[in-house]
Amino acid sequence: MHQDIQEILFSLEEIQRRTKMVAQQINQDYAGKTLILVGLLKGSVPFMAELMRYLTVDVRIDFMDVSSYTGVQSGQVVIKKDMEQDIEGKDVLIVEDIIDTGNTLYNIKKMLEERKCTSCKIVTLLDKVESRKIDIHADYVGYDIPNVFVVGFGLDFNEKYRELPYIGILKKECYE
Ligand code: IMP
Ligand code: MG
Repeated sequence: MHQDIQEILFSLEEIQRRTKMVAQQINQDYAGKTLILVGLLKGSVPFMAELMRYLTVDVRIDFMDVSSYTGVQSGQVVIKKDMEQDIEGKDVLIVEDIIDTGNTLYNIKKMLEERKCTSCKIVTLLDKVESRKIDIHADYVGYDIPNVFVVGFGLDFNEKYRELPYIGILKKECYE
């Protein structure tokens, strides 16, 4: 285990097992359809790669990079990189690593719905339900977690720890 990690919450094996279950639900719900996965950079990359491996529906992938300024005012996200595909009349599934206040996803979902997609749902690996400030829910959730700061499997602190093959709680002295 990395020296900055206090405790491992989910091992790679656990993440894979749970992701497979989530993928099976998605396969049922979108049977016979084409699904556009929109990964939010950069944290969702390992989860999206894992999820895709278990999908049997017809899939297209795309990515967006946005930054949110939760401190300033909710309702503010800036698109740093937009997705490339036209989603009008398409079924879209946003892939996120973690939902915290809900601000990022609330705004992205609204933005994608304005582009007239047929449906826009959300899948997230982790959900901090207790920390929600905006009323938004994920349609598919890997794990609900309490309000702790986690890293690994794509999740970072100042761009560090994304490569860890597990999700762990970061030691307090590493971010205070
Ligand atoms: P929200 O807009 O508050 O829901 O923020 C979601 C974003 O905050 C996620 O996409 C992450 O980038 C980041 N985030 C929230 N909690 C954590 C955490 O525990 N570890 C790492 N990043 C986090
Ligand atoms: Mg993020």
